Amino acid sequence: MTPKANRLAVDQLIDDRRTRIIVCCGSGGVGKTTIAAAIGLRAAERGRHVVVLTVDPARRLAQSMGLTVLDNTPRPVSLNGKDTEAQDVDDDGAAGSLHAMMLDMKRTFDEIVEAHADPDRAAQILANPFYQSLSSSFAGTQEYMAMEKLGQLRRAEEWDLIVVDTPPSRSALDFLDAPQRLGRFLDGRLLRMLVAPARFGGKAGLKVLNAGFGMVTGVVTKVIGGQLLKDVQTFVSAMDTMFGGFRERAEYTYRLLRTPGTAFLVIAAPEPDALREASYFVERLERDGMPLGGLILNRVHSSPAARLSAARSLAAVETLQSLPDSEQSTLAVTALKLHAERMHQAATERRVAQRFTAAHPLVPVGKIPAQPEDVHDLDGLRVIGTAFAD
Ligand SMILES: Nc1ncnc2c1ncn2[C@@H]1O[C@H](COP(=O)(O)OP(=O)(O)OP(=O)(O)O)[C@@H](O)[C@H]1O
Ligand SMILES: [Mg+2]
Repeated sequence: MTPKANRLAVDQLIDDRRTRIIVCCGSGGVGKTTIAAAIGLRAAERGRHVVVLTVDPARRLAQSMGLTVLDNTPRPVSLNGKDTEAQDVDDDGAAGSLHAMMLDMKRTFDEIVEAHADPDRAAQILANPFYQSLSSSFAGTQEYMAMEKLGQLRRAEEWDLIVVDTPPSRSALDFLDAPQRLGRFLDGRLLRMLVAPARFGGKAGLKVLNAGFGMVTGVVTKVIGGQLLKDVQTFVSAMDTMFGGFRERAEYTYRLLRTPGTAFLVIAAPEPDALREASYFVERLERDGMPLGGLILNRVHSSPAARLSAARSLAAVETLQSLPDSEQSTLAVTALKLHAERMHQAATERRVAQRFTAAHPLVPVGKIPAQPEDVHDLDGLRVIGTAFAD
């Protein structure tokens, strides 16, 4: 017997006022940004006050949401081309609102530094070359900063729903690990050891220890270069007071993600590799006690004439091709072949989806049809949103 998946009702999720955070995650290119934006728009049009945190949206989509400057703060999105201010004052008071922002990883990191260090120290850190490369390129920084920004938006209490897009990580798990990884990195023994000689230098009782550190430092200097090591040392001394803050905030966000007001939606293409990764992700979320809303299969194919089987349309192609040339219709042959292909693809997609459901019978599954072209404006997002209807 083929297992039947529970249907994922995204509308129910967004209409439920207890839902405060929706996280769209999944592997690269599956439609996380598009779906996060579509959910945000739909929720706003159903009366919620929403902010969408996007990561690297395609330029045309960003423009259609009014995201033309990357300034790391949420901007109001004009729905229906209406004046953005007017959204909030609908006659029956039921209208929602939409804000959107693009994550600026480096700016977010700079803001943390500015908020947690006195101005002199902050300036020292911001100017430090090691900090500059860490804040713009450390693997995991983007994931960490997305979570940091989420924490900030939640604390602001200005929106009743936050929709979060996640970075295009090579592994879909990266962003869950990022807070701890960066926290650990900044908190790490290696960094403390590197900074130790500077801190303990001159204290008589620590001579022996110092010699040990000196040796380590010597080796590291050879490997990574003296200037870089100095940068790291100054950076870490300056950041020292902030270590606690980093860890605390990482833990705050992690706890926030585990509350029942959060729903993770795992996005996947209806293909074997993508669903294998989605399975892995679903299991990881379960293990971490993260509230899973369900799986969204994006770019699902179907045919408007689903009652005509692939076999019958191919048979019709054969019949047509056996007719004398004058009676053949190239158009009909092309359409029938295309239909047969679509039907095959749809059947394959259903099979992979069933395999997922067999392994995860309790996970609700939603489907979004493949659109004929890229989704790059509000109307396109609305079409995607119709797939969320109950
Ligand atoms: N249902 C759909 N039908 C047609 N095109 C789609 C659909 N969903 C997404 N797309 C298109 O697929 C492309 C990738 O989508 P998107 O940028 O949302 O993916 P992503 O998961 O955010 O990617 P990344 O991991 O790179 O951030 C975009 O051009 C988008 O317009
Ligand atoms: Mg994206």
